[in-house]
Amino acid sequence: MANRTGYREGGQLIEGFPFDVGAPWTTMPPTRYQGSKRRLAAWIMDCLADYDFRTVLDAFAGTGSVAYAFKHAGKAVTCNDLLAFNHQIGLALVENKAEQLPHDQLETLLAPGDGRVYDDFIARTFEGIYFTAAENRWLDVVVQNLTDVPCRHRRALGFFAVYQAAMAKRPYNLFHRRNLYMRTADVARSFGNKVTWDRPFEDHFRCFANQGNQAVFDSGTACVSTCGDVLDIAGTFDLVYLDPPYMNSKGVGVDYHHFYHFLEGLTAYRHWGERIDHRSPHRRLHAVPSPWTKPGEIHRAFERVFERFSESIVAVSYRSDGIPSVEELADMLHRFKGRVTCHTCQPSPYALSKNRGTREVLLIGSDHRSNSVR
Ligand SMILES: C[S@@+](CC[C@H](N)C(=O)[O-])C[C@H]1O[C@@H](n2cnc3c(N)ncnc32)[C@H](O)[C@@H]1O
Repeated sequence: MANRTGYREGGQLIEGFPFDVGAPWTTMPPTRYQGSKRRLAAWIMDCLADYDFRTVLDAFAGTGSVAYAFKHAGKAVTCNDLLAFNHQIGLALVENKAEQLPHDQLETLLAPGDGRVYDDFIARTFEGIYFTAAENRWLDVVVQNLTDVPCRHRRALGFFAVYQAAMAKRPYNLFHRRNLYMRTADVARSFGNKVTWDRPFEDHFRCFANQGNQAVFDSGTACVSTCGDVLDIAGTFDLVYLDPPYMNSKGVGVDYHHFYHFLEGLTAYRHWGERIDHRSPHRRLHAVPSPWTKPGEIHRAFERVFERFSESIVAVSYRSDGIPSVEELADMLHRFKGRVTCHTCQPSPYALSKNRGTREVLLIGSDHRSNSVR
């Protein structure tokens, strides 16, 4: 059968795609990112196994876990996200086919350069908000060292390690509240997160840099990482994978720009100050309006994306309790595609999800004759 993505249900391993359903199936590092599909990627690949495609766009790629699985399957992947820090992760793990961060360069990143004068922007701006004073100073030095790394793929690997470390050291792995006190309060604790929070940045960084290095591979097909709004992505693709921000049944959407503003700031260190809303208690970036977080706009947002990619096979990751409903979404997709199939994965192994009752869904819109080999 032509162009199988290579994975078959039931744990049977097929040459060129050596991972197992539900298991940590690849060298893709684990992530604490909200909505990560890392643990679902093998299932998603399996659902797409009978579709004939070579070029693929992961348009809301986040940490790139699905893009990475497509890369493993030998596809020509475009890995896109609106946020600049996710673009860096795409550069490090999807676009990058050879560069690793060597040990001596890693050591250079961790130490202040001889005679170099460092800005203390993070220490000045975020005192008492997310990290301790010493941790803020560590971030100021390492991020300025990283910003000067000439090779963009090595630089991206270094940023990847900083992002992972910063998320690991945060309560809820987020930056949506001024809550350093949760780490520092002298209270009895019934959970072990404090050990991770208090582990030094440098230890986390070394560990995640190593994971990043291990994840680099050459699939033999060029892949690219891009950064922009889904509707601004140029080009045509055989298949477009969509995993937009999720809105729950109460109309509350995930505002990624808010949750991860600190990682966006790290990525644009020299311009961070200009973008901060100094009236916010936790020094977030100025809000950027998004149709994906507004109940009154999200239906139209889906429609516009389906219309834009109506020439491609379209696969949408979704959850059974979202707005719009799965039925509404399937109807919308049907307006642009001749055939719509719905796959359900249960129970949901959704990272960080407290709502175990919901199911993970994959809708696939295709045209009978041209797209499917089944
Ligand atoms: C559910 S997450 C994707 C998770 C991803 N599949 C993973 O495994 O990590 C949704 C992503 O959409 C991105 N996003 C939000 N609005 C966007 C837009 N207008 N264009 C492109 N990406 C957008 C967010 O930054 C976020 O990373």
